[in-house]
Amino acid sequence: MEFEDLLRKRRSVRAYLEAPVEDEKIRLILEAAQSAPSAGNLQSYKIVVVNSPEAKEKICHASSEQASIMEAPVCLVFFADQKRSAAKYGEWGATLYCIQDATIAAAYAQLAAANLGLGSVWVGAFEDGEVVEALGAAEGEIPIAIIPIGYPAEEGRQRSRRPGSEVVRES
Ligand SMILES: Cc1cc2nc3c(=O)[nH]c(=O)nc-3n(C[C@H](O)[C@H](O)[C@H](O)COP(=O)(O)O)c2cc1C
Repeated sequence: MEFEDLLRKRRSVRAYLEAPVEDEKIRLILEAAQSAPSAGNLQSYKIVVVNSPEAKEKICHASSEQASIMEAPVCLVFFADQKRSAAKYGEWGATLYCIQDATIAAAYAQLAAANLGLGSVWVGAFEDGEVVEALGAAEGEIPIAIIPIGYPAEEGRQRSRRPGSEVVRES
């Protein structure tokens, strides 16, 4: 797919078919996530692939019961790895770089999913502590995004964007 088409095609999709996502596609999505730039190339994030209904139930509960999580055959949960980034960058690593690393990796994963004909949505509204406990994250691993992924059962609404003139300025 042409890059511009991919950018246009990626929309938040919150309803999915029951069909499972092939392991090979998950592998490609994870590979894309890992290809993202990161501070000092430390890749200060962890990715948890959530398949089990029990784990999905827990992270769904942590996210105010957002239906997309239970509906999706698989969810990827991105954690920032504070300790890894802090070891090189101190406070800056712990409070900024690891969060940026995880965020960019998750964004790449969403683009890769769209490129493979899959739908996804960024779920960012959740109770951190509940997600940590549900997935057995270690100390210093902060959940950044839950990304449900599946074959789309809806097209996804095209959301408007602010005009460039409002967002961009020259200096
Ligand atoms: C940081 C962040 C948090 C978000 N949290 C949620 C969420 O909890 N639930 C949800 O359904 N969508 C969530 N979204 C998706 C946005 O609503 C969506 O990206 C936005 O409306 C633009 O639509 P589009 O993705 O189709 O372009 C989140 C997106 C981001 C980047």
